[in-house]
Amino acid sequence: STSDFTSILVSSPAPGVSQITLNRPKALNALNSTLFHEINSALRTLSTDDSVGAVVLTGSDKAFAAGADIKEMKDKQFAEVYAGDFLAHWTELSNFRKPIIAAVSGYALGGGCELAMMCDVILASPTAVFGQPEINLGVIPGAGGTQRLTHALGKSRAMEIVLTGRNFSADEASQWGLVSRVVPEGESVVDEAVKVAGKIASKSRIAVQAAKEGVNSAYELSLAQGLHLERRLFHQLFATNDQKIGMKAFAEKQKPKWTHS
Ligand code: HXC
Repeated sequence: STSDFTSILVSSPAPGVSQITLNRPKALNALNSTLFHEINSALRTLSTDDSVGAVVLTGSDKAFAAGADIKEMKDKQFAEVYAGDFLAHWTELSNFRKPIIAAVSGYALGGGCELAMMCDVILASPTAVFGQPEINLGVIPGAGGTQRLTHALGKSRAMEIVLTGRNFSADEASQWGLVSRVVPEGESVVDEAVKVAGKIASKSRIAVQAAKEGVNSAYELSLAQGLHLERRLFHQLFATNDQKIGMKAFAEKQKPKWTHS
């Protein structure tokens, strides 16, 4: 049950919205295996909960997450990390089929930045600090920092960030397209993320799911394959009640009442 979690909090801040708050404040939300197993466990529950349309993932004001837990990692040996496929369980989050909005305040470093990049939308507070400092530890990013960051920033910027290990600001992240926007100073990035998630949750769940699948395929497929998949997903939605409901409501100048089917 969610009340057994020690490293995350799960709440319901708005209709259709669940919130996962990373909660290891003394370690700046360093991502240890317990914390990640709890995220996965929470997401498994949320994936089958029909009342949930979108999820907000956040940390504290000081840290979204300061990275993988260095103290947990430092004495590991090759055989152990390889045989156990260390970090593989992090990919579960990127297979979650409902939208996840990351609300980032403070440090999002290393695995913290990678965790944010696994989400579908990133909103940042002006205090957000991003970076891939793994090079300073004698390693490299291991959960998307050389891949998703490069997709988002382009080669030259990604190389600079990954090779120097320097941090970058919320404004840079916004200019570079890593985050969708920076909320104005004095406004809560979590409140804003809950609003975005609530808006998504008010749509047809099945259309939202197809939309997420379509956008994600842009990172996996060629343009021709991606356009083909998109058109097929579009065609398939004509087999849903929500397509009939949505278009009929428009024609009759009514608000649609989705059945999510
Ligand atoms: C374990 C961490 C941690 C981390 C912070 N802490 N980050 N513990 N793993 N990644 C702990 C500190 O040891 C300290 O514990 C407490 O949190 C508070 O941190 P301070 O350093 O005292 O805070 P501050 O001086 O404000 O500095 C904040 C900081 C710094 C700049 C974010 O903590 C820092 O550089 N952290 C490491 C960032 C990093 O290198 N991340 C990448 C990790 S590697 P005590 O007990 O002393 O109070 C990684 C690999 C990913 O993510 C690979 C794929 C997943």
